[in-house]
Amino acid sequence: MGSERITLLSSREIDKMRRAGSLAAQLLNHLAPMVKPGVSTLEINDEAEKWTQAHGAVSAPLGYGPKNNPFPKSICTSVNEVVCHGIPNAKQILKEGDIINIDVTPIVDGYHGDTSRTFFVGTPSPTAQKLVEVTKECLERGIAAVKPGNRIGDIGAAIQEYAEANGFSVVRDFVGHGVSHIFHTAPQIPHYGRAGKGKKLKPGMVFTIEPMINEGTWEAIMLDDGWTAVTKDGKLSAQFEHTIAVTKDGVQILTLLD
Ligand code: MF3
Ligand code: CO
Ligand code: CO
Repeated sequence: MGSERITLLSSREIDKMRRAGSLAAQLLNHLAPMVKPGVSTLEINDEAEKWTQAHGAVSAPLGYGPKNNPFPKSICTSVNEVVCHGIPNAKQILKEGDIINIDVTPIVDGYHGDTSRTFFVGTPSPTAQKLVEVTKECLERGIAAVKPGNRIGDIGAAIQEYAEANGFSVVRDFVGHGVSHIFHTAPQIPHYGRAGKGKKLKPGMVFTIEPMINEGTWEAIMLDDGWTAVTKDGKLSAQFEHTIAVTKDGVQILTLLD
């Protein structure tokens, strides 16, 4: 992923990305009302798979990854201390006060729409509320740093500055990524870093920005399932993700409703 060349997408390809992205946003809107105490993460997964198929799309996460341990479900559901790539499970029942990130990636006409949001289950603790609000603002500030001539490091610097000013930390082990007909490709987009560093942004680049922001330490550990990443200290982690395109004079978010 790191050393490949960065592909610039044509406006026709970006239109297709926008169609996939819009379906992804619609899917999150469709799932949002299910986020309630008593619902299992598997029920959310199964509704996502059914809805995706009914809309003629394919769930990219299902079967993605290494042949000896492919991701087994259609979406990622990352609850509380789970940083990312949580696997939906019938035994995982949402309870009052939880936070849950739902990350969806439908493939439409060969192109991927990759987006996620963190939802509250019932009423959040003040800390959870602040973490989720700061994380959402981190994504917005990261997106605002995107325009031709700016550099990849400008994105991470904007995110890191705001997260740390609010007493939180930025996950290092997972980054944003180029996305097109390929799910994960160059460039890598760290959510930390130094302004003015890294490759220059050019019109036609399409990638995700998906900051994972932690209440405590930024360090993450991987569970034995080979997918679920959790915070090392067991404290909360939140995430928001959009797929964006660099345009002639700025940025366009591709994972919005049309
Ligand atoms: N949607 C995730 C991302 O933002 C990737 C999930 S890969 C999976 O990049 F296999 F875990 F689903
Ligand atoms: Co995603
Ligand atoms: Co992504």
